[in-house]
Amino acid sequence: MSDEGSNPTISALFSEDRKFPPPPEFAAQANCDESIYEEAKDRDAFWTKQAERVAWRKRWDQVLDWSDAPFAKWFTGATLNITESCLDQHVAERGDKVAYHWEGDGGETRTLTYQELHEEVCKAANALAALGVTKGDRVAIYMGMVPELPVAMLACARLGAVHGVVFGGFSSDSLRDRINDAEAKMLITCDGSYRAGSVVPLKEMADVSLAETPSIEKVLVVRRTGSDVNMVEGRDVWWHDVVSGQSSEHEAVEMDAEDMLFILYTSGTTAKPKGIVHTTGGYAVGTATTHYYVFDLKPDDVYWCTADIGWVTGHSYIVYGPLINGATSVMFEGVPQHPDKDRFWDIVEKYKVSILYTAPTAIRTFVKWGDEYPGKHDLSSLRLLGTVGEPINPEAWMWYHRVIGGERCPIVDTWWQTETGMILIAPLPGVTATKPSSATLPLPGVAADIFDDAGNSVPFGGGGYLTLTEPWPAMLRTLYKEPDRFKEVYWSRFSKPDENKWVYFAGDGAKRDEEGYLWLLGRVDDVMNISGHRISTLEVESALVDHPAVAEAAVVGRADDRTGQAIAAFCTLKGTAVGDENLIKEIRDHVADKIGKIARPASIVFTPELPKTRSGKIMRRLLKDISEKRQLGDVTTLANEGVVSELSDLASQAKAAEDD
Ligand code: WTA
Repeated sequence: MSDEGSNPTISALFSEDRKFPPPPEFAAQANCDESIYEEAKDRDAFWTKQAERVAWRKRWDQVLDWSDAPFAKWFTGATLNITESCLDQHVAERGDKVAYHWEGDGGETRTLTYQELHEEVCKAANALAALGVTKGDRVAIYMGMVPELPVAMLACARLGAVHGVVFGGFSSDSLRDRINDAEAKMLITCDGSYRAGSVVPLKEMADVSLAETPSIEKVLVVRRTGSDVNMVEGRDVWWHDVVSGQSSEHEAVEMDAEDMLFILYTSGTTAKPKGIVHTTGGYAVGTATTHYYVFDLKPDDVYWCTADIGWVTGHSYIVYGPLINGATSVMFEGVPQHPDKDRFWDIVEKYKVSILYTAPTAIRTFVKWGDEYPGKHDLSSLRLLGTVGEPINPEAWMWYHRVIGGERCPIVDTWWQTETGMILIAPLPGVTATKPSSATLPLPGVAADIFDDAGNSVPFGGGGYLTLTEPWPAMLRTLYKEPDRFKEVYWSRFSKPDENKWVYFAGDGAKRDEEGYLWLLGRVDDVMNISGHRISTLEVESALVDHPAVAEAAVVGRADDRTGQAIAAFCTLKGTAVGDENLIKEIRDHVADKIGKIARPASIVFTPELPKTRSGKIMRRLLKDISEKRQLGDVTTLANEGVVSELSDLASQAKAAEDD
């Protein structure tokens, strides 16, 4: 929550009245029709039916046990191994179907059929078992976008080990903290990964972390770049040495539906990331069901989600959802601008991609680059487009619709979170009319509402806080080792435990129009959204004050045309430190080292003082106004008024850094 203590209910700000009904040809072949909303009103019956997508070993006694709310149990008593849903259930009938078309950064390709993926996963599971991994162990994974990444995740799942993927763009410190929090027994990494032709030295970065991770017993290293790496005798082993010779058969370990599948860390409002815990059965049902309906998946589709598997979007919609549904996916290692700015469209043409799921920040970049890049390619294979990660502005939506979708493809703007595990708010293509910039309506089986400050539901036409008023199968179960924080962060704001009424507070502001359509307005807490990635202001502030020259720091996310938000930092310096260009560079690099490049401030302003309330709290909202060059809001609580005009001058002179 903001420092000033008050949280004015978010007002409904803009109006956008364009509306796109589903194209009739699309509607005629869609995977569902309107009746699904009605059908899903019986929540438990709906999820019972959808659970058929999953291969169970033993059926459940109860669909949902909510008696210990907010700790949910879905499909109680059921057992399964999720990799049997992803792999074994397809092998007999569709073994030759392509699971992944992998495209490397430099244009090399690999194809993995379901049969081959099954074999690779079994071999890797046998290798992990031989290295001592057993059910319940945590395994950290720090890799680039190579096929061995989903193989490693599935191998863990096959053994009942919990995977904790750490995005390859995170720093050594971030990796170390996550390994230590999870007390991971093994790390799986690569010698390096490729990014726009250059090598990211993952093993070298991991080595720094490994100096301070006592729980790690073994490090398994995939050779990708052939770079020289330091292998520690007895601890570090090559993937190709230990995996290749293994048997391609492996009996999957039987898991309870509520056994932990993975931990994924995400930024909250404190400096310590939250370990989001997902379990097996409900997550499988939720991701597969939403992947099927939201993307209108057909057996012949070529589906491409451009996310990195290091984020939840990759977990749910590159790995688990698509594999359970037996989909053919494209998996891409590289970046949109390499070797040229038409790389995405080249890939769409090459693989005849029919469903494309990407991020608004990418779309805004494409708009800036110009129509000529998509114009060079045949994009007629596309039939459905999706977005995720942040609100998409109407201009970018219209461009996506017109230039990429040729005005024939429905766009699904999908709202969800690491915590929700699955898409919760999105149109059903062929059913729901879309409005540019609105994620439209809660999916069947999902209940969302907008609350005001006092916890009352806001009537249609108003704005407030987005909440979820019913549990859903892929919901997070807790925060790893922090059940109290789990209750506090998500369930304390609007729940009424005395009345047994549990309301999940998402942390997003939203507006609901007269037709009940939801328009997401961004975070209402101290979490920023940079290119669709969540970064906490406090995490960046901690990294800033960790620099020897910085005394105090405040960080805000200011609006940015390309990245959605950009990090604007304000620092006071210690003693004799000189706030010049060199120091700015040094501090930015320091933050990149501490957290990762994505957290580097776009601008840093040095100031003799930060604006504070009389109780000494930094007024971030004021800094946001200053950064966005707005009229300043209420300054009556400000203790040191003089600082404001000075800061405005300094901020207007600050140059934003150009990042790659
Ligand atoms: C934001 C990513 C508007 C939102 C799957 C949410 C969105 C946070 C949308 C979760 C969308 C995600 N429209 N905002 N379609 N999708 N967000 O955990 O603020 O990385 O709370 O999960 O991204 O980010 P996370």
